[in-house]
Amino acid sequence: MKPHRVCDDIDVLELVDPERYARRGYPHDVWTRLRAEAPVAFFTPEGFEPFWAITKHADILEISKQPLRFSSAQGITLRPAGVVFPPSEMVVMLDPPRHGPMRRVANAGFTPRAVRGRRNDIERIAVELLDGAMPVGASGELDFVERIAAPFPLGVIAWILGVPRDDWERLFRWTNEVIGKDDPEYRRPGESPGATSKRARGELHVYFDEMIAQRRSVPRDDLVSELIEAEVDGARLSTEQLVSYCELLVEAGNETTRNAVSGGLLAFSEDRGAWEKLREHPELLPDAVEEILRWVSPISHFTRTTTEDCEVRGTKISAGEQVALYFASANRDEEVFDSPFEFRVDRSPNPHLAFGFGEHFCMGAHVARVELETIFRHLLTRLESFELSGPVQRLTSIVNGSIKHLPFSYSTKESPTT
Ligand code: HEM
Repeated sequence: MKPHRVCDDIDVLELVDPERYARRGYPHDVWTRLRAEAPVAFFTPEGFEPFWAITKHADILEISKQPLRFSSAQGITLRPAGVVFPPSEMVVMLDPPRHGPMRRVANAGFTPRAVRGRRNDIERIAVELLDGAMPVGASGELDFVERIAAPFPLGVIAWILGVPRDDWERLFRWTNEVIGKDDPEYRRPGESPGATSKRARGELHVYFDEMIAQRRSVPRDDLVSELIEAEVDGARLSTEQLVSYCELLVEAGNETTRNAVSGGLLAFSEDRGAWEKLREHPELLPDAVEEILRWVSPISHFTRTTTEDCEVRGTKISAGEQVALYFASANRDEEVFDSPFEFRVDRSPNPHLAFGFGEHFCMGAHVARVELETIFRHLLTRLESFELSGPVQRLTSIVNGSIKHLPFSYSTKESPTT
């Protein structure tokens, strides 16, 4: 058995300090060193439970294939020291055998076929937003995140669930507060990150509790009504399970796609050659979407906890330890991707892990892909020119590599063409 290797001179704060992520984005230089020198590295940061950083693509695949040995039930983000996350009914934190049946409850609404049936509505939501924010034949300046990247996926998931348009704004605020709890912009004065997240989740729960009660008496053609009717092992879901499902879909479906849209636009603004190439070859759009996902990797990592003694790349990991799967690092793995630090809109194949892998592979992957294709197709045909008009502001978070504000000046064509 090999002893684990540690890069002693790596400052673990590069991995766990959310303010550093906000200041400089993902620590790709640190992950690159870890991949080369200590792909299975043990860290004991102050304020957190110790954890193993897994940075290679192949190791993340191996671990993700073993959901019983590498469990999600103790939470999927790094645990603060001494904290035990309470058991959750969220599908993303269930292990087999409970996970599969619970996933199937909503999965039918997100299969490629089901998503194809939603294409027109996704298209409609995109066009409405673009017409409002950057009409054809206009020029101006806006915050691309606030006007396009954030409201678009929010509108799509809200519409799928059946949340009325007047309430989208509230959902937007609550998800910002839950996911951005470490960011002072989303905290109320005097609130700690934990208190912000607890309050916002409480408000979100009350909202969905009421919506579920309404749909129970008057069902509609929406996902909440379908979830109410669904059964797991012959029994309907409890209100708590239904609320958890709605919360997960709203939280999982928003911040991630928002970040892929804004991160994709940022990549194009930094690499005009890639933008022009895609304009000339719009048939490359599906490949470009995959490259945006790889490049941005909206989720930096999720964690697992070992249920028995295990071995990864010859290194022993004891039962009960935390491993962090750095998807964003795997997506720059030199052994898998040719020139991984180049943004190539025609990269193919592109086996990125932006959506995770295995048992918990993202349920919304097809929706996210259609959203990205739709918005970039319209941006490509609508925009005459664009550039960043101010500094990019990132979210204070070690999980979501999000952009909070992307100041953007643009001019649009008189008549969009392909
Ligand atoms: C670019 C956009 C997205 C990215 C990068 C992303 C990323 C991920 C990742 C990495 C996981 C794996 C979790 C794990 O391994 O523990 C995941 C799971 C999940 N995602 Fe996404 N996601 C995106 C969009 C969406 C959307 C639009 C929805 C919903 C409409 C969604 C719903 C879910 C759900 C429900 C799970 C849990 C699946 C399970 O546990 O079986 N995601 N996502």
